[in-house]
Amino acid sequence: MSDNINRIIVSNSNQLAEKGAKMFCEIAKKSISDRGRFVVAVSGGSTPRAMHVRLSQDPYISDAFWQNTHIFWVDERMVDFAHPDSNFGTARKDLLGKIPIPVNHIYPMPVMIHPKEGAELYQMTLKTFFQSIGQDDPVFDLILLGIGTDGHTASLFPEQAFTYSNQSWVISVKGGHPNVFRLTLTYVVLNRARHILFLVSGKDKALIVKSLFEDNTVDLPAKNIRPLRGTLTWLLDQEAASQLF
Ligand code: 6PG
Repeated sequence: MSDNINRIIVSNSNQLAEKGAKMFCEIAKKSISDRGRFVVAVSGGSTPRAMHVRLSQDPYISDAFWQNTHIFWVDERMVDFAHPDSNFGTARKDLLGKIPIPVNHIYPMPVMIHPKEGAELYQMTLKTFFQSIGQDDPVFDLILLGIGTDGHTASLFPEQAFTYSNQSWVISVKGGHPNVFRLTLTYVVLNRARHILFLVSGKDKALIVKSLFEDNTVDLPAKNIRPLRGTLTWLLDQEAASQLF
């Protein structure tokens, strides 16, 4: 992995949530002051949950930036939003149901639809949104990512090599845990972001983190996250970073 990245190591998962929320807020405010809006895509899984909860508390909840924030999803499991595996459903519980964000600024991925059609529909949602703000390319202000113990990120899995070369903005795949159909943004979109922030917590991530940073012989989806122009920050807690040299 290239050295041209920021790596921040904090002491524990609480600090990770605290620092993640602070960075989210700083990037939101800067984006709004530069361009009038903040466009973010969030991931699912367990790691971002504490940060989402933190963002739903003071000082963040009472901040004005939510009015100009637009929230999209990096990936989604194609289950009902009420299902515990739903990324949108979980974010709704932890964050969306509490913050003062206009409801038409929230763009969940469609799940009650054929996976391929869902991917096309979300790609259309992205195209329409970005064109409405004068951008032909999908340039997010911030994309939040996690990593699985197998090196997947978003829902781009190591065993699905075709996803590496796919030029669509959104694709449907089946895999992961839970092993269901999913929709995911592709590298084409992810690598265009102005800021990419990985959140990684816990000792079960220590080996994959080591292999990401210190083993050039393995190719993993998370290694393909190389922003074309933006910044890439890895925010790790000490357990996740414990095997690093
Ligand atoms: C998903 C995710 C996925 C996640 C990693 C880490 O919906 O499955 O977006 O890419 O970020 O698997 O998940 P954990 O935080 O649960 O370890």
